[in-house]
Amino acid sequence: MKIIMLGAPGAGKGTQAKMIADKYGIPHVSTGDIFRANIKNGTPLGMEAKKYMDQGLLVPDELTVKILLDRVAKEDCSCGYVLDGFPRTIPQAEVLDNALKEINDKIDFAINVDVPDENIIKRMGGRRACLNCGATYHVEYIPPKTEGICDACGRELVLRDDDKPETVGSRLDVYHKQTQPLIDFYNAKGILKTVDGTAGMKEVFAAINAVLG
Ligand code: AP5
Ligand code: MG
Repeated sequence: MKIIMLGAPGAGKGTQAKMIADKYGIPHVSTGDIFRANIKNGTPLGMEAKKYMDQGLLVPDELTVKILLDRVAKEDCSCGYVLDGFPRTIPQAEVLDNALKEINDKIDFAINVDVPDENIIKRMGGRRACLNCGATYHVEYIPPKTEGICDACGRELVLRDDDKPETVGSRLDVYHKQTQPLIDFYNAKGILKTVDGTAGMKEVFAAINAVLG
């Protein structure tokens, strides 16, 4: 099964993608997590990506597409994957489509986690992320068992650099201009499924499960 998660920054794409990946035993592939791991390790790619991410801008398609295609070509993706944060532009979606067509394959579902901008701002300030395993928490809504420590891997949780209020505004603008058009793109292909992302984490997951059958 090949699934794409769509939705504004902070809509809960990562939270739900992890749950889907666990249930179906497929990899959770997040371009944001890949960039953050590169930033943490000080790689040239990380240094380049950071320039854009810290301003709430998209990393250029040339860099992003290559990383994603390399990742999904790995053996563990042969039975499917859940993409979180990719594609984010129409050109990215077209490259992915063409790459899949070449191997006679396609995306099965594009799940749009729908959350209005007002709710997003509240979620971002409280988010805590694990840069080691990609798990995401919220200090109020989804707290870890021990404050500041990842339940999954025991490492320290951090506030992401791009979750500062001034950056969140730019990320939302970028989302509406560059990423939202993908909703029509996948709707036209007949694979778009929209779920209400304002409900609790478990309710949202139940709605996604109903869609995936
Ligand atoms: P990325 O890491 O993808 O960030 P994003 O899309 O901005 O999305 P977020 O990770 O912020 O939110 P999310 O939807 O995963 O929500 P989460 O589950 O954490 O990208 C970061 C940057 O990298 C981009 O800005 C760009 O620069 C670059 N980049 C990445 N991919 C790219 C690409 N393809 N092309 C170009 N550039 C790219 O949830 C948010 C919070 O809410 C958490 O605290 C969570 O615990 C909480 N929460 C989740 N669900 C619920 C719920 N149901 N109720 C209450 N709280 C909830
Ligand atoms: Mg995320």
